[in-house]
Amino acid sequence: MTKGKILVTGGAGYIGSHTVVELVEAGYEPIIVDNFSNSEESALEGIAALVGRNVPCYRVDCTDAAALREVFEKEPQIAGVIHFAAYKAVGESVAQPMKYYHNNIGSLVALLQIMEAFKVNNLVFSSSCTVYGIPEKLPVTEQTPVQKANSPYGNTKKICEEILVDLANSGSSVRSIALRYFNPIGAHPSAKIGELPLGVPNNLVPFITQTAAGIREQVTVFGDDYDTPDGTCVRDYIHVVDLAKAHVVAVDRLLQGQAESIEVYNVGTGQGNTVLEAIQAFEKSTGVKLNYKIGPRRAGDVPKIYADVTKATEVLGFKTTSTLEEAMKSAWDWQESLRESTKA
Ligand code: NAD
Ligand code: WQD
Repeated sequence: MTKGKILVTGGAGYIGSHTVVELVEAGYEPIIVDNFSNSEESALEGIAALVGRNVPCYRVDCTDAAALREVFEKEPQIAGVIHFAAYKAVGESVAQPMKYYHNNIGSLVALLQIMEAFKVNNLVFSSSCTVYGIPEKLPVTEQTPVQKANSPYGNTKKICEEILVDLANSGSSVRSIALRYFNPIGAHPSAKIGELPLGVPNNLVPFITQTAAGIREQVTVFGDDYDTPDGTCVRDYIHVVDLAKAHVVAVDRLLQGQAESIEVYNVGTGQGNTVLEAIQAFEKSTGVKLNYKIGPRRAGDVPKIYADVTKATEVLGFKTTSTLEEAMKSAWDWQESLRESTKA
């Protein structure tokens, strides 16, 4: 007996794959839907190695309503859905906004229509701290005003949250929990799954690990003249396994019928760290010296943001357990395992 079948869109991706593992460990039966636009089938092998069996996966594009509907037909009694599937590259979204509006909004709309038709009433949605823009007061709570997004990607998250609110206000039986992730980093401690950035990474941690591995020459720290303790930007870096566990407690809450029609939670550690602190944590936990230099600011960067996690702690009973150093070490172990697998 399982606690229920959970459809995980984008389940082969970075956060999705870690969540699938945590769902199995918590007694759920995940079913993956992914079109592998930003992931590889090897993620499924990593998941299988960790959970001791193959997790069913449908190669389906969530914007293809007919194909998605077929998944719901083939998988009766889906108890809930976690919707990760989306594009996430901020810069690309500026250059190709329609690609982002089509995929990120189109997939949510198709999914919600099918969920209503099949009376699947529980949804966890991947939102982002990007909805807070450049906040006036720190830490940000769920009451901190959502701002005009500074990229089409960020706007898709804002619009998707609005869609969930409108649906809730319509009296729909679908209940949603939107999790606003801060900065997910690291990998499963087994190094069997992790982040697979295609091409040159945009994010700090994969850039650090690829530089340490000799794939990139040098990390550029984007600006050291911000109003922060050492002048570099502040972020709330959360270990991806901790983040994955937040989805399990959100699903628990929905399935136990405790959630309101729409709920929003910040998911971070509650702690802010600068870029230089992140680099120090990497060097200390791995013993590897990083080649980095200070460069100019990156356009559009938020100077500092970190979460107030009181609501997730009190309502969901969610608490992170991993340190920044543990997260950095796991990111490095994953990078090393990729090097091993390309040697083989
Ligand atoms: P990811 O790219 O690793 O995973 C997304 C997965 O969805 C990929 O496997 C991709 O192939 C799949 N996918 C994309 N469009 C699809 C579609 N139309 N149909 C089916 N599958 C599709 O990204 P991630 O880092 O795991 O992010 C997961 C979610 O969390 C996204 O919604 C992202 O916007 C959100 N998020 C990520 C971060 C972050 O920093 N990683 C922060 C905040 C929010
Ligand atoms: C982290 C810090 C950079 C690279 C992005 C998205 C956001 C959200 C999370 C999804 C910043 C600095 C980075 C480098 C650096 N994603 N940095 N040198 O900017 O917080 O947010 O991912 O919703 O929407 O915008 O993450 O990893 O790019 O940067 O100094 O080579 O590292 O300036 O302070 P960011 P990031």
